[in-house]
Amino acid sequence: MPEKDDKDAKNFHVDVPTPNEPFFLRGSNSLDWGLKNRLAKIFNPQSGRTVMLAIDHGYFQGPTTGLERVDVNIVPLLPYSDTLMCTRGILRSTIPPSYGKGVVLRMSGGPSILKELSNERLAVDIEDAVRLNVAAMAVQVFVGGEYETQSVHNMTRLVDAGLKHGIATLAVTAVGRDMVRDAKYMRLACRMCAELGATYVKTYYCDDFDTVAASCPVPIVIAGGKKLEEREALTMAHNAIQAGALGVDMGRNIFQSENPQAMIQAVRKVVHENEQPDRAYDYFLTLKNEKKSA
Ligand code: R5P
Repeated sequence: MPEKDDKDAKNFHVDVPTPNEPFFLRGSNSLDWGLKNRLAKIFNPQSGRTVMLAIDHGYFQGPTTGLERVDVNIVPLLPYSDTLMCTRGILRSTIPPSYGKGVVLRMSGGPSILKELSNERLAVDIEDAVRLNVAAMAVQVFVGGEYETQSVHNMTRLVDAGLKHGIATLAVTAVGRDMVRDAKYMRLACRMCAELGATYVKTYYCDDFDTVAASCPVPIVIAGGKKLEEREALTMAHNAIQAGALGVDMGRNIFQSENPQAMIQAVRKVVHENEQPDRAYDYFLTLKNEKKSA
């Protein structure tokens, strides 16, 4: 039993207004505390941005180049990521549970690269996402794809489950092979995902990206896409951030880089410090050469 608290000399700081700060992420102010807390494990509250390391490619294409050994190639990069996006198989088998940042769990799956990719279903129960203590759940949405409605329904079911448990839903706009990756398409896909309840959206960078970001009321991050030369990838990330993206969800341009550790640190400069692409590339070269001479 605590002792009786009957002191008269309490200090209620009556001259200090009670804070009523809006949450730092666009479109997220009306979310519940737990969900905001999880978002703060993805987006850095200081910069308001994120460097998500995406390594979930194996869920439809097997041991992707650079991901042959996640323990060897990826675990050393974890200290430089704000968040890790992966499957539950890799999480349980290979990622140290001491990883203290947000995990974004791949929740959809089904077809391999040998089949129609849009024919995905939800592949993980919400209970397992809760058990794994994830910050967000990722689901592919194939707007314009053969199984468009099914993939949108996958997302809306996750949104419902996520809101019930305070877990964010990341809608990943997947662009079919024959579709044009232009701003008109990205605006449609991102806005649909936001309207249907996604907590945040991942899409691809394109010309006029500022119109894609402006018309999406929730945070938007860009995928890296296929491997580019490092300077080019840093330029793309810089342009996306300056046009309104709140981060990157980058995979191949990091883990397929000639020096992944140097590349992820250079990407951080662009995302969190608004570094210019040329200077970020110089930073990449410096880190790369330091490693060589060590
Ligand atoms: C692809 O479907 C996965 O969701 C990847 O996480 C995503 O494409 C980001 O990886 P990358 O930067 O290699 O495109």
